[in-house]
Amino acid sequence: MAVTGVVLAGFIVGHLLGNLQIFIGRDTFNGYAEGLKKLHVLLWGTRAALLVSVALHIWSTIQLAARRSSARPVAYQKYTAQTSSYASRTMYMSGPIVAAFIVYHLLHFTIGVGGTPYDAGDPYGNVVAGFKVIPVALAYVIAMGLLCLHLRHGLASFLQTLGVNHPAYTPKIKLAASLIAGLIFLGFSSIPVAVMAGVVS
Ligand code: HEM
Repeated sequence: MAVTGVVLAGFIVGHLLGNLQIFIGRDTFNGYAEGLKKLHVLLWGTRAALLVSVALHIWSTIQLAARRSSARPVAYQKYTAQTSSYASRTMYMSGPIVAAFIVYHLLHFTIGVGGTPYDAGDPYGNVVAGFKVIPVALAYVIAMGLLCLHLRHGLASFLQTLGVNHPAYTPKIKLAASLIAGLIFLGFSSIPVAVMAGVVS
C-alpha cells in the first residue's frame, strides 16, 4: 500500500504541475497536453503504472480490512479515538470517494462524456467549459479536499510502513505531510476557483 501510494502521489504532483500551466494560457496548456500525447512510451508507461498501482492499492485495502476485522471481530461498544487523526480514521471513506472522482474525471476530461462541452483537441477549453458549471466546479473542490485528507495520512504513514519511525522524526514527517497535502489542495482547487472567478476564461 505504501509503495503504490507513493507512485500515485508522484503522479498527482506531476499532474498538478502540468495543470497549473493553465494560468499561462491556452496555447501553453494545449501544447503541453499535445506534447504528452506524442510521447507514446511515457504516456502508456504512466497509464500502465497507474493502473497496476491503483489495482494493488485497492487490493491492499481489502487485505488490510480483512486483517483488521479478524484481529478484532467484535466491534467496540464505545469507541473513543486516542491518538489517531481524523484523516486516518476516514481513509476507508475518502479512498473510495477519490476513486469515484477519478472515474468521473476520466469520463469528463479524457473521454468527454462528463456532461459539459468537449473538444478532444482543446483541453484548455474543456477545463474552462467544465468549471463554468458551478456544481461541477464545486464537486471538484470537495473531491480535492477529500483527496488531500487521504494524502495527508498516506504521506504521513508511508515511511512508517516502510520501517522509518523515530520519535524525533515522526512529528516532522507528519507536519511535512500536512503541508504537502495542503499545497496540493490549494494548487488543484485554484483551477476551478479561477474559472468560476473569471480569471481563467
Ligand atoms: C482541478 C483539478 C484537475 C484538473 C483541471 C485536471 C485536468 C485534466 C485534464 C484536462 C485531463 C485530460 C488531458 C488530455 O486528455 O489532454 C486530465 C487527465 C487525467 N487526470 Fe486530471 N485534473 C485534475 C485533477 C486530477 C486529480 C486530483 C487526479 C488524480 C487523483 C487526476 C487524474 C487524472 C488522470 C489519471 C488523467 C488521465 C491521464 C491519461 O490520459 O492517461 N486529475 N486531467
